[in-house]
Amino acid sequence: MNDWQALRDHQRMVANRPILTLFDEDRAAGFSARADGLLFDFSKTNICQTGLDLLIRLAEGADLPVKRDAMFNGARINETENRAVLHTTLRNMDAPVLVNEQDVTGPLRQTHGRMQAFAREVRDGTFAGQGGRITDVVNIGIGGSDLGPAMACIALSPYADGPRCHFVSNVDGAHIADVLAGLNPETTLVIVASKTFTTIETMTNAETAKAWMAKAVKEPAAQFAAVSTAADKTAAFGIDASRVFGFEDWVGGRYSMWGPIGLALMLAIGPEDFDQFLAGGAAMDAHFRQTDLRQNLPVLLALVGIWHNQICDYATRAVLPYEQRLSRLPAYLQQLEMESNGKRVSMDGADLAIHSGPVVWGEPGTNGQHAFYQLIHQGTRVIPCEFLVGREGHEPDLAHQHRLLVANCLAQSEALLRGRTLEQATDIMRKKGLEGAELERQARHRVFPGNRPSTTLCYPKLTPFVLGQIIALYEHRVFVEGVILGINSFDQWGVELGKELALALQPILEGASAEGKDGSTRQLVDYLR
Ligand code: F6P
Repeated sequence: MNDWQALRDHQRMVANRPILTLFDEDRAAGFSARADGLLFDFSKTNICQTGLDLLIRLAEGADLPVKRDAMFNGARINETENRAVLHTTLRNMDAPVLVNEQDVTGPLRQTHGRMQAFAREVRDGTFAGQGGRITDVVNIGIGGSDLGPAMACIALSPYADGPRCHFVSNVDGAHIADVLAGLNPETTLVIVASKTFTTIETMTNAETAKAWMAKAVKEPAAQFAAVSTAADKTAAFGIDASRVFGFEDWVGGRYSMWGPIGLALMLAIGPEDFDQFLAGGAAMDAHFRQTDLRQNLPVLLALVGIWHNQICDYATRAVLPYEQRLSRLPAYLQQLEMESNGKRVSMDGADLAIHSGPVVWGEPGTNGQHAFYQLIHQGTRVIPCEFLVGREGHEPDLAHQHRLLVANCLAQSEALLRGRTLEQATDIMRKKGLEGAELERQARHRVFPGNRPSTTLCYPKLTPFVLGQIIALYEHRVFVEGVILGINSFDQWGVELGKELALALQPILEGASAEGKDGSTRQLVDYLR
C-alpha cells in the first residue's frame, strides 16, 4: 500500500497543475512509446517523471514481469477457476507451451488448419448449401462469442471478399428475426458460437435458426457449424463433428476471437488475412514480453488507466476511435475491461482496498463530437479520453475526408488540453459586439476549463495486422491493470446471479406464483405478463 499512498500524495500535490506547463521540448517524445509502427502518446496527461516513476514502481511491486511470464508459460493464473490463461497461444502456435505437461500447440495447429480448410471450401463454393454457394453466414453467440468477431468484421470490411457475415446475440427475438428476414436459408451457413454451449440466449437463437432453416432445407444441420469447448453438446445439437471447431477452457470467452470463435471473421476476410490478424497479435505479445516497462505499450496504457481511475478517481474512460470501422471497438472493450476488472475482492478473497476497473464507453469520432463531447469539454466531471486514429484510410479517393477526420481528432485532444480562458472567451464575444453584463454572462458560457487528460494511439492503417496489434494491446493492458489491482481478470462470477434469477422468473412470467419476490419485481411481473 505504500506505493499507492506515495502515488496519491504525489497526485494531491500536482492536481491543479496545468498539463500544458509540462510541455518542454522533450515532453512529447518522453511521454510516448512506439511498437512496430504504433505510436502511443500519453503526454497530454498530468503524469510527469515523478508520477511515471511511482507508477512503474507500482507495476514492479506487483511483480508484473514475473506474472506476465507466468501467463505466457501456462501457469494456472486464473485461480478461481483453476485454469491457465493461454489465448496468446492461439496467435503463436509455433513455440511449445505445456499445460499438464502436454504441449498444447499441436492441437491448436490442427484446429487452425481445419478452420482454414473449411473457410477455403466455403469461400470457393466447394462447401455449399442446398441452394448452392454460401452467400451469408450467421454467427449466433453472445459476449465473447460475438463482440470480437462482430467488431472485427466491421473493422476489416475492406478486406472482406467472402460471404456476408451477420451476427445475432440478443435473446430478444427481434434480433434474429431482423437478421434472418433478409436471408435465403438455402445459401446460409449458421455458426453456433458458444464456449460452454449452454448459454441460454445462444441456444435459444440456435433453435430458432434451426427451425427457420428446416422450413426450406432438407438437411438443416448440414448448414450448421459449431464453435465450442463442449463437443458432447455440439453433437447432441446435431452438428457433424467435421464442422465443429473446439477450443480449450484456458481460452477465456472475451479473449477468444483469435481461435475458432474468429471463424466468421476468417470466412469473411479469408485465412491469409486472418493469419495477418494473428501475426499482429503475436507482434504485440513479443513487444509486451521483451520491452522494458517504460517503453512497453500495454504497460504504459495500463499505468495511465490506473493513474486516472484509481489515483485521480475519474470513474469512466471514453474510447474514441476516429475510424468509423472501429464503431464496435468501445463495446468490445467494455466487455474486455469491465468483465475482466470489475471485481470487488482481490485474488485471495479480501475486499479490494482500491476501486476496481473503470466504466468504459465511447463512440467513433467525429459523430461523438456532435453528441456527448459537450460534457467531456464543459461538464463538471473529468473524463479521460483515449483517441485512436490511423495515418491512412482505405479510400484513396477520399483522402481529403481522412485529413478532415485526423484534424478533428487532433483538435479534440488539443482543445481538451488547452481549453479557453474567460479572458479569451470575453475577447471573442467583445469582438462580436457584446458589452457590459451581457458580455460577461455570455463569455462565461464559452469558457473551456481545459487541462483535461487524453491519450492518442496512432497506427499506420487499419489492416488485419494492425487490428491484431490493437486488440492484443488492450488485452495486455487489462492484464497489467488486473495484476496491479491484485485481482483475477479472467473469471466473471458477477454475471451468474442475474442468470439464475432469470431462470426462476421465466415460470413466474408464465403464471407461476411470484411469492417471495420483492414488491417492485411483483409489480413489474404483473404489468409484463
Ligand atoms: O455471461 C457472461 C459470459 O459467460 C461471457 O463471459 C461469455 O463471453 C459469454 O457469456 C458467452 O458465453 P459462451 O461463449 O459460453 O456462450
